[in-house]
Amino acid sequence: MADSRESDLVISSHKGPYAVEFRGDPFAELSPLAASGAHFLVDARVAELYSRELAPVLASPSVLRVEATEDAKSIESMPGFVRHLVSKGLRRGQSLVAIGGGITQDITCFLAATMLRGVPWSFVPTTLLAMADSCVGSKSSINGGGAKNVLGTFTPPKRIVLSAGFLKTLDEKDVRSGVGEMLKVHAIDGPASFDRIAADYPRLFTEPAVMTAYLRRSLEIKKPIVEADEFDQSVRLVMNYGHSFGHALESATAFAIPHGIAVTIGMDLANFVSARLGLGDLVHYRRMRATLAMNWRGYESTPVPLDDFLAALAKDKKNTAKALGLILPDKDGKIRKVDAPADEVFRAAVAEHLSKGRSQELS
Ligand SMILES: NC(=O)c1ccc[n+]([C@@H]2O[C@H](COP(=O)([O-])OP(=O)(O)OC[C@H]3O[C@@H](n4cnc5c(N)ncnc54)[C@H](O)[C@@H]3O)[C@@H](O)[C@H]2O)c1
Ligand SMILES: [Zn+2]
Repeated sequence: MADSRESDLVISSHKGPYAVEFRGDPFAELSPLAASGAHFLVDARVAELYSRELAPVLASPSVLRVEATEDAKSIESMPGFVRHLVSKGLRRGQSLVAIGGGITQDITCFLAATMLRGVPWSFVPTTLLAMADSCVGSKSSINGGGAKNVLGTFTPPKRIVLSAGFLKTLDEKDVRSGVGEMLKVHAIDGPASFDRIAADYPRLFTEPAVMTAYLRRSLEIKKPIVEADEFDQSVRLVMNYGHSFGHALESATAFAIPHGIAVTIGMDLANFVSARLGLGDLVHYRRMRATLAMNWRGYESTPVPLDDFLAALAKDKKNTAKALGLILPDKDGKIRKVDAPADEVFRAAVAEHLSKGRSQELS
């Protein structure tokens, strides 16, 4: 990190520190990498939209254009990527560079962690979700055997070059997907923090400076949590707020709902279920619902079959043999991990929410 600046956010990890480098012009950072023999994995849509700015990268000897689909992010697709990197003569010490969103990140990280027993990698996130959340924290997972995110490692990049300029070409649903993760991190920081971003919610979409400030704040909130528990054994588990339900929503709808929007609905479900189980209070469900509902708009009536949802939920990594491991708000709105039985009360609350909880406030 020769060119570190005061504005960089440095994260410590078991592989040493790495920095999020906030840059107005990310392309200036890429040309030297292209000249240094790095191997690039570029989101195919980003390669097309930014063909002029990325010209030095796209003209370099080793470039792979990645289609951002869940199928591409699976163990079944890895042989093609491996063949490409072998044919391009990947050597130890040479680095991989991912330019794209969470899918390009997860593919590149998996290859970097496993090829030649590990090569360094860098990341230029181009989606809001990747900028505000997934770029830090070392985690990455790919799909396999028909299950999402079942294979992975904890392997942070060497550096992250972050430029909010990429957001201007992102589809609105993908912006809201990233905002979903930002709302999550702020809720974990506490009710006051969530209420602050909720009050500024409309400005996120109209004022780039407001978006950048909350984006940075999201990473600042996440930093001490992932530093304290990089391997997801204790305090970091709360970062999965909205995710057990969110992953089940993605799976039960065959990924018709983008990840961060499923997480948004998942937080509302968590708030509602927690109150119904007597662990939380409807006050927090009501306090957060209007903002969450704005963020999931357009997905009010996507059908979610209850049986498929419960079957997916039963496979969650946090479950024990007897109970579901859920991340729920307590009566003070503090997000905690609890083990809850999948009993009748639980099922009834979930069924009620899935059938009408997205289009109306429940009581
Ligand atoms: N590793 C982690 O910690 C972590 C965390 C959260 C999510 N994820 C994973 O990330 C994936 C979702 O990632 P994502 O939401 O970042 O998106 P993505 O990579 O799926 O990309 C979303 C869409 O945006 C396009 N795109 C990317 N950048 C663009 C830009 N600047 N302008 C226009 N279009 C652009 C892509 O081509 C794609 O069509 C999921 O597979 C999820 O499981 C990983
Ligand atoms: Zn997520």
